Amino acid sequence: MRVRAENLSVRYGSEIIFDGETFELAGPGLFLVIGPNGAGKTTLFRALLGLVGLRGRVYVNGIEVTGDPERAGRFVGYVPQLNLIDPPFPISAKELIESAIILRKRAPTLRLNDRESSLLKSLIRDLGLSEFIEKPFQQLSGGQKQRVLLARALITDPPIIMMDEPFTAMDPAGRESLIRMMFELADRKLLLVSSHDPTLFLQKAKAVMALNRGIVAMGSPDDVLSEEVMRRVYGRSVVLVERCLHVVDYHAV
Ligand SMILES: Nc1ncnc2c1ncn2[C@@H]1O[C@H](COP(=O)(O)OP(=O)(O)OP(=O)(O)O)[C@@H](O)[C@H]1O
Ligand SMILES: [Mg+2]
Repeated sequence: MRVRAENLSVRYGSEIIFDGETFELAGPGLFLVIGPNGAGKTTLFRALLGLVGLRGRVYVNGIEVTGDPERAGRFVGYVPQLNLIDPPFPISAKELIESAIILRKRAPTLRLNDRESSLLKSLIRDLGLSEFIEKPFQQLSGGQKQRVLLARALITDPPIIMMDEPFTAMDPAGRESLIRMMFELADRKLLLVSSHDPTLFLQKAKAVMALNRGIVAMGSPDDVLSEEVMRRVYGRSVVLVERCLHVVDYHAV
């Protein structure tokens, strides 16, 4: 499983977010995307999925998917950033999860096969969805919504999963169980995860991509999370990052 971008350029009007980036991510493994607000993390996900206009080419597993979300969606499960999702019609949590299968099969009605039914059951159990699975998605709390969006990305068992800040709204227990689940998934899938809290993933990350209107650095966590690179990425906020790194070192000892 692999994701490749060639000469990727994205701009919104005159605002240049990416200017001719070429990179390849080869899975399985966990790849971390970091960068300050407005750096282009969400734009990167959306470009790889064909959801924004771009120049260049995108390949998933060797197949060109440039600007073709339907084709990209055959390989990729996407967990959008929470504040960017708002279904325009009433839909229950369960229906939203199942809609990923309907879209994949292009079937007019839903019929889960045995494998999908058992996967749905295990996701409901593992992500703790049972209490609110029949409720309207719009009425759920932020952390509940995030768990439903995760289940939606996982229900088709895709080889590649992209998660855009998957647990900003989750409580500590929810985060911990999700991180455990992500580490397991990363053993057999390609996970691309953006987070403002990179220290949570350091022990597992195969590579880190640091963005700030373009790729500032990409490589092993040790190389990218150096003070020098962090200063280029985060500027004055870097003190906070250093403090987080220190906490992780403490736990690792
Ligand atoms: N549809 C759009 N039209 C115009 N500008 C946009 C659009 N989407 C994003 N932008 C701009 O592009 C820049 C990058 O946005 P993006 O959402 O990719 O950042 P991000 O790294 O995901 O930030 P955050 O950490 O806040 O989620 C921002 O300056 C944003 O205002
Ligand atoms: Mg974002």
